[in-house]
Amino acid sequence: MPEFQRPRGTRDFGPEEMAKRRLVESKLRETARLFGFGEVMTPTFESTDLFVEKSGEDIVGEIYAFEDKKNRKIALRPELTASVMRFYVNEMQSLPKPVKIFYFGNMFRYERPQKGRYREFFQFGAELIGAPSIEADAEILALAYYCTESVNASVADIRIGHLGVLKTLFDKYSIDDSHQIEIRRFLDKKDFEGMNSYFSNNSLSNEALKYLKKIALTKGSPDKLDDIKNLLGSECESIDYLIGLAKKIEEYGIRNYSIDLGVARGLDYYTGMVFEIDGVGLGAESQICGGGAYSLAKLFGGKEVYSTGFAFGFDRLMIARNSKNDRIESLDAYIVPVSNRAKKRCIEVASILRNKKISAEIDLLDRSISKAMKYANTVKVKNVIIIGNEELNSMCVTIKNMKTGIQEKVKEKDIVQYITKCRN
Ligand code: HAM
Repeated sequence: MPEFQRPRGTRDFGPEEMAKRRLVESKLRETARLFGFGEVMTPTFESTDLFVEKSGEDIVGEIYAFEDKKNRKIALRPELTASVMRFYVNEMQSLPKPVKIFYFGNMFRYERPQKGRYREFFQFGAELIGAPSIEADAEILALAYYCTESVNASVADIRIGHLGVLKTLFDKYSIDDSHQIEIRRFLDKKDFEGMNSYFSNNSLSNEALKYLKKIALTKGSPDKLDDIKNLLGSECESIDYLIGLAKKIEEYGIRNYSIDLGVARGLDYYTGMVFEIDGVGLGAESQICGGGAYSLAKLFGGKEVYSTGFAFGFDRLMIARNSKNDRIESLDAYIVPVSNRAKKRCIEVASILRNKKISAEIDLLDRSISKAMKYANTVKVKNVIIIGNEELNSMCVTIKNMKTGIQEKVKEKDIVQYITKCRN
C-alpha cells in the first residue's frame, strides 16, 4: 500500500486522459466564442459569506469552508455563478450589455463520492447578463445545446421548466418563502414521500400538495402545459413564457427537448426558466448540465439585472460523449541515435522538426534499435528516425513509418516534408 493516497473524491489524470480532456475543453471554448462569449477566471477560493449570502447557512456543511491564518472565513468555490456575479457587480456593471461570460475550472463540494460525483470536479459554464429575458434564455439554451453537439455528447433529454409555475401555486395557497425553499428541495430530489410528510407536519393545504405533484409530473411537449394553465387559471404568465421560449429554441434548431415542470434546481437563487440536460451512460448521476435564470446582482449590492446561465459538469460530459472520432495526435517522430557520435545530429534534427511544429522525442535511454521499435509501438509513435554513422556520413536519416512498416533513407533537407506527408 503506497504511503500517500489521493484525498477522497479527487482524481489524477494521466497524459492520455488529459489530451482527451483538453480536446473537449477546446471545443467548448470555441463554441462559446462562436456565440460571442468571452472567458473569465476568478479565484479558486472566496470568502465563505459569498456562498452563505447566496444559499443560506446550510451551504457551509456542503462545501470546503475553513478559516485562514488570520481567521478569515474562506471557502473553496462549489460553483462559479456566485463568483462571476460578484465580479460583475464589482467591475462589470458599466460594460455595454449584454455581458456574456464563460468559464472553465475546478469546483469543490463536500459530497459522498460515487460514479460521476466527486469532491473536486470541473465545470464549463456561461452567464448572460443584461439581455431581455426570453431572448437571453433562448440564447443560453442554444449555447448549451451547441456545446453538447460540438463534443458529440449523447443527450437523453433537455428538460426545461419555469419556477414561476410553482410560485403561482404557492401564492394561490399562501405558502410562504421558507416553506417554498424546503418544498423545492423535495421536488429537486423527486422525494414525494418526504414532501407528503412535510405538508402534513406543517399543516399545508392537501389540495396544493395534489396540484404540486401534478405540476411536478408534467413532462413532454409544450401542449402538456394546457392542463396546467386550466388548473392555475390565466394568471400564470410563466406558462405563456415557456410556450414562447419553446418556439424560440425551435428557431435555433433545437428539437430534443421536453417541457418538465418538475425541474426545481437545488440552488436557491433561480427565479424563472430552469433547465437540466441528461446524458446517456451515466447511471444515477445523469445530469450533465444545469442552469436557468437567477437573481444575484442585487443581493451582492448591484443593480437588478436579468441574468441567466448554465454549467456543464465537465467530468460527466466526458463520460456521456462519444469519443470514437477523437483525433488525439500521437508523437510524429521518435529519434534514435545508434552511436554516441549521432547524438548531436539527433538534437539538430529534433530542433528542426520542433521549430516546424512537428512533435519529436529523442531517445534518452540509449535503447538498441529493437528496443526502440518496441517502445515506439507501445507509445504509438508515427515515425522512428534512426541516425547512425552511416546516416551521418551520407547526410541522411533512416525513417520507419510505423503504420506502413516502410523504412526509407531520407535526405536531411527532406525530413520535414516527409514527416508532414505521413501526417495526412
Ligand atoms: P449545478 O446543477 O449545481 O449548477 O451544477 C452544474 C453541473 O455540475 C451538474 O449538472 C453536474 O453535471 C455537475 N456537478 C455538480 N456536482 C458535481 C459533483 N460533485 N461531481 C461531478 N459533477 C458535478 C451550478 O453549479 C450552477 N452554478 C449552474 C448555473 C450557472 N446556473 C446558472 N448559471
